[in-house]
Parts: sequence; structure tokens; C-alpha cells
Amino acid sequence: MKIALGADHGGFEYKNKISDMLQNEGYDVTDFGTYSQESCDYPLFAKKVAEAVSGGLYDRGILICGTGIGMSIVANKFKGIRAALCSDTFSAKATREHNDSNILCMGARVISFEKAEEITRIWLETPFSQEERHIRRIGMIE
Ligand code: RB5
Repeated sequence: MKIALGADHGGFEYKNKISDMLQNEGYDVTDFGTYSQESCDYPLFAKKVAEAVSGGLYDRGILICGTGIGMSIVANKFKGIRAALCSDTFSAKATREHNDSNILCMGARVISFEKAEEITRIWLETPFSQEERHIRRIGMIE
């Protein structure tokens, strides 16, 4: 699975650690930045990752900022993107099963790194349910 990762300064540390974790687990990860803790603008990184997933070059994206909110607002403006802001594992599982979300957003100032790790694993491992009602609803979004 090819994964596009992005963060602003607020999510920089979590993004780097998630990148290491995923590479150790055999995922094909590309880090779209940011590459330092210097203050930067989250829309730039959300755009890079959303375009990478929307264009079909990547299967999934993960975006991390302070709250995850800015990243999700931006990512959901791109065609075909269903970005889900998750702070708990129930939502991470449900959004894969019901929404077939293709970008996971998290807030590094909201959840612990251990929780972010757990959410990421569950989100990546949970398949879309393929149920007719969910396919129909996703079609209505587009
Ligand atoms: C940056 O201070 C902060 O606004 C950003 O990380 C994010 O929380 C935006 O939604």
C-alpha cells in the first residue's frame, strides 16, 4: 500500500514517528513534508497529500496538524477525497467501513502519540465494508 504523509509544524514530530512506524511495518511511505519544526502553512501540505491521493498515485494519505481540523478542511476540497478526522479508534474503524475514507487526519495537540499510532494501524487495516448502502451514500457525496 502506498501512503502519502504530510504535516505542518504542529504535526511534524508525530508525522516523522508515524513514518518510521509504517516503514518498519513494510508500507511504502512518501513524506511530503514539512521537514522542520519551523512554523508553516498547513494548507500547502494538505494540498500535496490530497493531490497525491486524488490523482491515484497513492492509495491513502495521512495528515497531521495541531488539531487535524485545518488538514481535513483542506483535503476534503479535492475531488475523490474523503478525509476523516479521528481522535478515537471507533471512528477510525467506522470511517473505513462506512465512508471508505482515503485520508486520515489527526491532531497532535489533541491525542497522545500512542493513540495516534493505534488509530493509524486500525485505519490502515480496516477494509471498506462494500455494503450497498455505504456505496450508495459515498456515490451521493461525489
Ligand atoms: C498551527 O498553529 C495550527 O493552527 C495548525 O496546526 C492546525 O491545528 C490547524 O488546523
